[in-house]
Amino acid sequence: ADAHGPPETLQERSLEAVAEYIKSGDARRIVVLTGAGISTAAGIPDFRSPKTGLYSNLARLKLPYAEAVFDIAYFRNRPEPFYVLAQELYPGKFQPTVSHAFIALLAQKGLLQMLFTQNIDCLERAAGVPSDKIVEAHGSFATQRCIECKVEFPDDHMRKHVLRGDVPRCKECKGLVKPDITFFGEALPRAFSEKSHNTVMADLVLIIGTSLTVYPFASLPDMARQKAPRVLFNMEKVGSLGSRVDDVLELGSCDNGIRKLAGLLGWTDELEDLWRNV
Ligand code: APR
Repeated sequence: ADAHGPPETLQERSLEAVAEYIKSGDARRIVVLTGAGISTAAGIPDFRSPKTGLYSNLARLKLPYAEAVFDIAYFRNRPEPFYVLAQELYPGKFQPTVSHAFIALLAQKGLLQMLFTQNIDCLERAAGVPSDKIVEAHGSFATQRCIECKVEFPDDHMRKHVLRGDVPRCKECKGLVKPDITFFGEALPRAFSEKSHNTVMADLVLIIGTSLTVYPFASLPDMARQKAPRVLFNMEKVGSLGSRVDDVLELGSCDNGIRKLAGLLGWTDELEDLWRNV
């Protein structure tokens, strides 16, 4: 290994070696990439897991195809299915997981360069990750606006409509109101392209709970430099992970993998305390 790189030899490419690398102080800029898998333990279904994933449980909404529920063109002529889903997913009744808490702990230790999340559940914010360290690549339920005149819609009115299950309309132009979630067919928030260079600068990339099927988010892991180890905490092997000599695959539940890493770092008590107090 050069003075500041990860260990060289093959058998060292393990979670133990990653923990050593972090403890050495050389992994100062850690980029974290998350998807729906990090929130399943919080009770929010992911999208593509067979049987439990959202996309295999939308039959009741009579969609032409599952992803239509997040398609802007479909939403324009049939907004009801999205609002049925919004009622189930709306933030407020879910708690962050220990994996979300680990990201907040990285930030507390000054090691979090940036978190890119595909999730719209705002659980990273709830766990205490500073908002200037979060890029919500697919937006979130945090704000909403009219899709025609773009006038912002008040949060308290939105919550009322969503919990009642009816479709909010713009007071100004009667247009449909939609949360600032990135639908298929819409551009990602500007912050995504502005901040994606952080992945290039990363000393270490942690990828947690994503199938890496949706671009351009899925292109982030390959932006990491060759010398930056990439650690996948996921039920299954995904994307290009495993193709680089320094990739580490921690397959299984992300909470177990994250707890194992926290243990190797000697952070177990800090992590559990932080998580208990979010
Ligand atoms: N621990 C580890 N991995 C998990 C867990 C868990 N507890 N639960 C699920 N997973 C894994 C699944 O095996 C899968 O590989 O997380 C991944 C979730 O993949 P998806 O359901 O496709 O979710 P995501 O990758 O976030 O989807 C990306 O697709 O529909 C769009 O915009 C939506 O942001 C979403 C995007």
